[in-house]
Amino acid sequence: MTTTTSTAPVPGTAPGVDAGTAGQAARTDALVERLFGSVLAAMDLQAVYLGDRLGYYRALAGAGPLTSTELAARTGTAERYAREWLEQQAVTGLLDAHDDDASRQDPLRRRFSLPWASVEPLTDELSPNFLVPLARFVVGGGKHVDALVQAHRTGGGVSWEQMGADAREAQAAANRPLFLGALGREHLPSIPDVDAALRRGGRVADIGCGFGWSSIGIALAYPEATVDGYDVDGPSIEAARRNAAEAGVADRVRFSVADVAAGTDGGAYDVVAAFECIHDLPDPVTVLREMRRLAGDDGFVLVMDERVAESFGAPGDEIERLMYGYSLLCCLADGMSTQPSVATGTVMRPDTLRRYAREAGFRDVEVLDVADDFFRFYRLVSG
Ligand SMILES: C[S@@+](CC[C@H](N)C(=O)[O-])C[C@H]1O[C@@H](n2cnc3c(N)ncnc32)[C@H](O)[C@@H]1O
Repeated sequence: MTTTTSTAPVPGTAPGVDAGTAGQAARTDALVERLFGSVLAAMDLQAVYLGDRLGYYRALAGAGPLTSTELAARTGTAERYAREWLEQQAVTGLLDAHDDDASRQDPLRRRFSLPWASVEPLTDELSPNFLVPLARFVVGGGKHVDALVQAHRTGGGVSWEQMGADAREAQAAANRPLFLGALGREHLPSIPDVDAALRRGGRVADIGCGFGWSSIGIALAYPEATVDGYDVDGPSIEAARRNAAEAGVADRVRFSVADVAAGTDGGAYDVVAAFECIHDLPDPVTVLREMRRLAGDDGFVLVMDERVAESFGAPGDEIERLMYGYSLLCCLADGMSTQPSVATGTVMRPDTLRRYAREAGFRDVEVLDVADDFFRFYRLVSG
């Protein structure tokens, strides 16, 4: 149910036709058009998922125009499927098709290329415009829809572990450009206390670090800092260790498998951070309490979570729609997979975090002046 209704007169309403009815009919038409567009968009995402998983985009990037036979040979796939994918991608506008008389006679001779405009969103893993992880998240989430239906009926959940590689890898890939880019270049330098602590070789605890890109990004931006990343998910920590070694920071970045709600053996950190994970936790208060302990009297406790609106409102903007989508597909069900659970979901409003922080013993929560379209940065203040 929406909280707004349209009572505006409908221009050009025929005599005898109730303006309210005509207004509702126009709204239905617009909705049909929108949902049809969503069907096409969902098919685009499925095709993008295939293109990423099968290595089609990577094979096309930097190559000249390829035939379906050449693409299939380079990716170890079946020509007939590769041809259908190439034609679909060209028809939907993500690839260019190069036609001549020969290819009009024989589709096996048609060539396809990745246009310049598609390179960044489809292949550049370090660009903030790399949208493949979002496609992977949506399509991968669809694989668990039966479990989700069941969870709706029983009040149970679908765990991060159950969601598997698609969710883990999509999450890591989606935040990697931010963590290796703006986080260390703009966001942390804009928080004077954190910047100063990291410059003088501070110790950082990264709670719920996933594949470790936030820890690695901090270590790369601050060559004197050391970082301990904690995550309860074993495969994520294995990937984080590999990533740190490849980035050349394994001497200053260590990762541990740990359920932070059960406590850690660390302590006396200068910065204790939780990047996009508090809203997933069944028991955020216990984790925040552990973060307070890890920071001691002088450490800085930083939370980065979704930049959702202060309160519910419908219809919502794109960020709100995105976050409700994540919540419905993944985060709420993940949070509810362990009981008891506070069942936050992705749409964690600032007041909700304030309540959790107070229950965890913090005195105050400050919203930091960090310019980011998707995330809000908070400082949790003790004492
Ligand atoms: C949405 S992911 C965020 C990962 C990473 N911080 C990022 O931004 O890409 C949430 C992470 O929190 C981890 N997590 C959930 N509960 C945890 C707990 N009790 N202790 C440690 N990590 C936990 C999950 O395994 C997952 O990797």
